[in-house]
Parts: sequence; C-alpha cells; structure tokens
Amino acid sequence: MTVAVAVSLLCEPGVGGSLHLSGGAVLPGGAAAADQESCPIEEPLIGDGVTRGIVRIGDTVRRPVRPFTATVQAYLRHLHQAGFSAAPVPFGIDGQGREVLSFVPGDAPREPLPPEATGEDVLIALAGLIRRLHDAAQGWTPPADAAWGGVPGAETVRISPVDGEAELVGHRDYCPGNVVFRDGLPAALIDFDLAKPTTRLYDIANALYWWAPLLHPADARPPSPTPTSPTAPRSSPTPTA
Ligand SMILES: Nc1ncnc2c1ncn2[C@@H]1O[C@H](COP(=O)(O)OP(=O)(O)O)[C@@H](O)[C@H]1O
Ligand SMILES: [Mg+2]
Repeated sequence: MTVAVAVSLLCEPGVGGSLHLSGGAVLPGGAAAADQESCPIEEPLIGDGVTRGIVRIGDTVRRPVRPFTATVQAYLRHLHQAGFSAAPVPFGIDGQGREVLSFVPGDAPREPLPPEATGEDVLIALAGLIRRLHDAAQGWTPPADAAWGGVPGAETVRISPVDGEAELVGHRDYCPGNVVFRDGLPAALIDFDLAKPTTRLYDIANALYWWAPLLHPADARPPSPTPTSPTAPRSSPTPTA
C-alpha cells in the first residue's frame, strides 16, 4: 500500500513543465492532461523511503534522475518492446529534470507482509513474473555507456559478487515495495534502480530472500514478536528438541 502523506498543489511557473519524451513513447491521456495543467496535483509516493522526491502526477510517476536513469529507461523500453508490459513505461525526462514513468495501478505491500501476501499462489505468480521478465531481458545489449545503480555503501564492502558471469540484465530488488499486486497476486514490477547484468539464479535468490519462508523465526528479520505474527515465516519448521 502506498502511503500518500500529502497532496500538494504546485502553481509555480514551470512546474509540471513540458515533457521531453524519448523512445517514441506516448504519454497516457490522463498524464498529458495533468502535465499540461499549470497547477498539476503532485501526490508524494513514499514506499520503502529509499528514494526521496517521488511523486505521482495523473497517470505518471516522477522520480529524481540518477546516473543510471537513462540506462534503466533504455532497459524498460526494451522490455516493453520484447512483450513484457508488467513494468513502468519510460517517458523520458520532464521540464523539471525528473524522470517520467507510467503509474502502474495496484498496491505494493509493505513489511511485515499481510497474510494475504504470503500464500504459495503469491510465490507462483511472482516466479512467473520474474520468468517472463528474464525471457524478455535475454539477449538485450545495454548501451555502451551504460551506468548501473547499487545499494548505497555496498561498494565499500569487500565481498566477491555472487552472480558470476552475467546472463542478462535482471531487476535484482524484489522487495515487497517493488512488487505491485492486483486481484491479490503479483502483477507488475517497479523500481528498477538496482537493475544490472546478473544471472537468473541471482535474481531468483533475491526474490526468495524477500518472499520465501527460509528463516527460522528466531533468525527472522525483524524478530517475530509472536509465532503467529505476519512477520513470522509462513511454514516455520517445527522445533524437534
Ligand atoms: N511507476 C510506479 N507505479 C506505481 N507506483 C509507484 C511507481 N513508482 C513508485 N511507486 C510507488 O512509490 C513507492 C516508492 O517508489 P520506489 O520506486 O519503489 O522507490 P524507493 O527507491 O524508495 O523504493 C513504491 O513502493 C510504490 O508504492
Ligand atoms: Mg522501491
């Protein structure tokens, strides 16, 4: 569930601005209407609180531009061209220098996961989504000047990469806030900030970290207040001793 903390009405000159669309994408009607307004309604979107300044305007989302934004937009364009539509459509950069993406309808759950987001049907749907993403990503050659994002501070930790020789560009960040549910099941992926050349296996391992009941309650993160708490793994092994 997205937390909308406030709705601001910005009426300063240049706010909203014109869109510099790239890749021949067509802005959805609602978004175009909102952007042409002199006072577009900006609804702050706060997910996991990692990226500041994300807002929704009509059918679009505006996010700050980072060094990897153009690469991610090229990746998203490729995914759509390859038939994977369960991701935001990239619309380039707006008049304020923010990246523009389509708003993906649905709800992204937050941790601790609500019980309805912990069933096997959820895992199966998410696995299918990732498989379709991988199949669409396979064979894409990133631009020569591609830039990739990373977890802040990770470069200072001297751990060998576990994903070995890259097979494709994967999403690499399947935390609940990046998985949009519709009708109770994962239906789309958002937030491709950590997308990077990797392996299919690494991507699956990342998804399992967030979604599969791998940990004993004593090791769960965060510690489970009670065995029946939604933070507890779904099928905890029964203690035998
Ligand atoms: N394209 C989008 N469509 C729908 N909701 C979005 C979109 N982008 C972001 N959001 C909402 O905003 C939240 C935060 O955005 P996200 O891109 O995941 O940023 P962060 O880097 O903070 O995790 C998401 O969890 C989601 O609820
Ligand atoms: Mg996110």
